Amino acid sequence: MAEGEPVTPSVEVGPLLSRADAGEPLIVLDVRNDDEFEAWRLEGRRPIETVHIPYFDFIEDAAGCLDRLPRDREIVVLCAQGGSSAMVVDTLREAGVESRNLAGGMVAYGAYLWPVRVPTGDAGGQGWELWQVNRRGKGCLSYVVRSGREAIVVDPSRDTSWYAGFVRRLGAVIVRVLDTHVHADHVSGGPALAARSGASYFVSAGNGFDLRQTVEPLADGQVLRLGGDAGVTVQVRVMATPGHTPGSSSYLVGHRHLLTGDTLFVRSVGRPDLGGHVEAWSRALFHTLREGLASLPDDTVVLPAHFSGLDEIGADGVVAAPLGGVRRAVPELRISEEEFVAAMRAQVKPPPAAYDEIIRVNLGLATVEPDKATEWELGKNQCAAGPIHPGS
Ligand SMILES: [Fe+2]
Repeated sequence: MAEGEPVTPSVEVGPLLSRADAGEPLIVLDVRNDDEFEAWRLEGRRPIETVHIPYFDFIEDAAGCLDRLPRDREIVVLCAQGGSSAMVVDTLREAGVESRNLAGGMVAYGAYLWPVRVPTGDAGGQGWELWQVNRRGKGCLSYVVRSGREAIVVDPSRDTSWYAGFVRRLGAVIVRVLDTHVHADHVSGGPALAARSGASYFVSAGNGFDLRQTVEPLADGQVLRLGGDAGVTVQVRVMATPGHTPGSSSYLVGHRHLLTGDTLFVRSVGRPDLGGHVEAWSRALFHTLREGLASLPDDTVVLPAHFSGLDEIGADGVVAAPLGGVRRAVPELRISEEEFVAAMRAQVKPPPAAYDEIIRVNLGLATVEPDKATEWELGKNQCAAGPIHPGS
């Protein structure tokens, strides 16, 4: 930037979402193209008043566009990466309209990570802690379990620096990185985070897949102990929960907190159709949900890898539900195997085009430049099946 050039006022994603969630009056002005706006929007836990005026409309008729904007609240302008929106902010401010640019635009929104501590009933806070890291723009959830000076990270996103810094601030080191499955909607940060931390990495692809990542194999039922010499131990039990993918695993943290990956969400189940084997994977998922998880009590806390709507975030900020409530509320858990398979078949839909390429990277069969990965990851995840309407 040239010396003396005025700086366009901006706001970062985190503070913007905090203000919107708190109900502060503001307006989002989205200047992306129509198709980008239709496909994916910035959302808050409360509705955010949003005005959509494409950037090129501003170029053609700035005065006309200004007339369409309310003047009684601050306007936050966003675009894909924060470039054209900055120019719109300059135009607005020249016209005396209070406005700021969303730094980094929707790319920053899609990458933003929000850590929320999961209540574990560990009175005194001396023992272990569990954090849910919410990638709100994509609806992806990852987890950090800390006990003593050791931490396990589950399903990390690509921003490995964020997880490394977060765990360091907890006073711990990462000793293991786990993925619940070979993700299709985002490039896993697992292998890179394990490498930079000197930690072991685990993911199971299941039969029929060529997995080229370096993993330390873990078996169904194996118990990992975390905390070691600090005298505090939390157990993490590996559970094979095939269906969403043949290798899908869930992790039972302590005795009650189940990291389910894409096996079971708080209001739906994971899609069993992403590998092109909807019949076989649907049957596997049915048996996992009805038999594999049958021994877990109703007060088990389901902590999934994705959510679909921000209304799934609880008042405490956590996306979670008691297993008993999920068993009662999610229709897919209340129907017969044949009905389940038919329901899964009926909702097969083509996955986003990039999913095949993301899977190849996550298997270790290909590499990807960060900019390309960012492009692949634009938009919300499409990992959930449903909704189904039994009886209809
Ligand atoms: Fe998935």
